[in-house]
Order: sequence, then structure tokens, then C-alpha cells
Amino acid sequence: MLLLALETSCDETSAAVIRDGAVLASVVSSQIKLHAEYGGVVPELAAREHLRNFLPVTQAALHEAHVTAAQLDAVAATQGPGLPTALLVGFKAGQAIAYALRKPFVGINHHEAHLYSPWIAGNPPRAEFERFEPNVSLIVSGGHTMLVQVESELKHRVLGGTIDDAAGECFDKAGKLMGLPYPAGPIIDRLAEQGNSKAFDFPRPLLNDANDDFSFSGLKTSIRYFLRDHPTLLENEQSLCDLCASVQSAIVEVLVKKTMRAAKRLGVKCITASGGVSCNRSLRTELAKACDRQRFTLRLADKSLCTDNAAMIGILAERKLRAEQNASAYDDEIIPGWQLA
Ligand code: KG4
Ligand code: ZN
Repeated sequence: MLLLALETSCDETSAAVIRDGAVLASVVSSQIKLHAEYGGVVPELAAREHLRNFLPVTQAALHEAHVTAAQLDAVAATQGPGLPTALLVGFKAGQAIAYALRKPFVGINHHEAHLYSPWIAGNPPRAEFERFEPNVSLIVSGGHTMLVQVESELKHRVLGGTIDDAAGECFDKAGKLMGLPYPAGPIIDRLAEQGNSKAFDFPRPLLNDANDDFSFSGLKTSIRYFLRDHPTLLENEQSLCDLCASVQSAIVEVLVKKTMRAAKRLGVKCITASGGVSCNRSLRTELAKACDRQRFTLRLADKSLCTDNAAMIGILAERKLRAEQNASAYDDEIIPGWQLA
């Protein structure tokens, strides 16, 4: 089966070509630079940029995969959740391509696709579903932070999520308070490497609560008060690195401990992680150490697949088509608020 997948839910325009579980091409055009000067994603600009990028990105993916549109057996696109006008671009274009070719179209839940991105590996990348194990999956990005139990392929249950800010949002807002450019997550990751994570003590929200939920807005507030009380701290480069390391360690400790605790409680022995924040080196190292101690399997999405991409959309869509699930109608609508159950 040869499938074209499209992803335009937020600020990445992406197209991928999938054949029988293998990613033949995955092209991602990021809009980070466009939104940086506004300190966050501006929906209207994102949609216009998707419109501009959609054709070149899709053509590049088909070209890279050495296939033509006429050879496609199916088309898939992200249906939700996401920014409405951004989603519309990829979803409606995908439906139009499928309709023109008289081939099946599949609308995919973006978060459900994240659950399977850690199973895409190798060079060239392919879905390693033959190695699939029931797992607890941490999806951690700028817009979302959630824990999901994946009991078997295509069967999952949301355990918990953030009740306010997402972890990536906390990284970005903390960075803004420190005067760092958007998105601050990767910069904090880099500066933290030279810092002492025990220099300053920040709260670990909901760490000891008996649930699988997260909360990061209080942490952001405590950083604001901390900087108010230490007005000259940022003038010293080492103090900035210490602050980055201390903030990062608070976020990472909560993410790792709550993920591990959920898995132990459920008797699950495999952890997976995806989403932009799962690029964070400290998070990757701490998850690896924790899984090592418990003798759990750890599958982290490849860094190129942590952030939003159409490859994960296509891999899930192909799986769904093979399971004869969910071929959508050509006139289905986007679902901007589509939450995983
Ligand atoms: O998945 P993603 O590209 O987009 C969505 O949010 O949908 O994730 C972007 C988020 C941003 O908040 C960014 O700061 C964060 O992921 N991020 C990181 C790192 N790389 C990206 N946060 C911490 N450490 C990183 N290395
Ligand atoms: Zn995402």
C-alpha cells in the first residue's frame, strides 16, 4: 500500500510517503522562525504559511519517494486536534487529492499518531510493530502533556494530562521570563548542560498526588517570583545556566516519576515518549536511567520524529486502513478539539 500523509495541525507543514510500513519520504517545513518574533504560534500566520508551503512540501515528498500522485493507494491527514485554520489546509487538500484519485481518505487524531512515532526506527525508517509491547506513553509538547496506556495496537486509554500549561509551554514561558527567545525549550536544554540542577529549588507540582495528571502553571509563577526576588541574577552567565538546570530538573523529575509510577501501578513494562519536549536530553537520560533500574523497555521517538511530522500520521493511517478502520468520507470535517479518550 502506497500512502501520502499530510500534517498541518500547528506550525509544521509536513508530507510523508509510506509504503507497507516504511517511510519512503518525510518532509517537514517548520515555521518556528516566522512565529519567533511573536513569542508563540499565530494561528492566522500559520494557516497562510501552510497554504504557501503545502504544494512544495508535498511535491518534495513524492519526488524523494520516487513516486507520482497517480500511484497512491490512499491519502491521510491530521483531522484534529489543532488550530482550526491550520488543520483545514492539510485536511481539505488531502481529501481533494483522494477524491481526485478515487482512493480512500483517512482522518487521523494527531495524538493517537504520536503514540506510534516511537515505534518508527531504522534507516530508512519503518514501523517496528513486530516489536510492539503494551506500554505507557508520554506525549509531551508545547501544546500537550499526557500519559496514555497503549494496551495493544490501536487500543489505548488516556490516564491523565495537564490541568493547565503543557510542559513545553512551561519551558517556553520560563525562558521568556529569563529573556530567552521563543521557543526556549531547546535553549534551556543547552544552557542547563553547564548548570547545577540543585542550585535553586523549584516546586514539583502534583508529584505526590495519586493521579496521572500534571500541572505546570504554578512552576512558571514560582520562577517569576524567584526572578523578582533576585533581580540581578540573570546578569551572571553561570547563574542563568544554574537557573535553566534547576527549572529543567523540576519539569523532568515530575514527568519521569509520574510516568514510571503509572507504569508500575498498571504492571506495564514498556515506556514510550514523543512530542517536542521528548527531544530534551535530560528527559531522555532520566527516562533511560529509570527504565534501566526497573528493567523496563524504553522507546523514545527518534529526534526527527519527536516534533510534529506526517510520517507518524501515515504509519497510523496505514495500520488503520489495514485493520479496515476509519476510511473517512471526502466531506468529513476537521475536529479542532478532538481529545483522545
Ligand atoms: O511537538 P512540538 O514541535 O510542537 C507542538 O507543541 O505541537 O513541540 C514544541 C515544544 C516547544 O515548547 C519547545 O520549546 C519544546 O517542544 N522543545 C523542547 C526541546 N525541544 C523542543 N523542550 C525542552 N527541551 C528541548 N530540547
Ligand atoms: Zn504534536
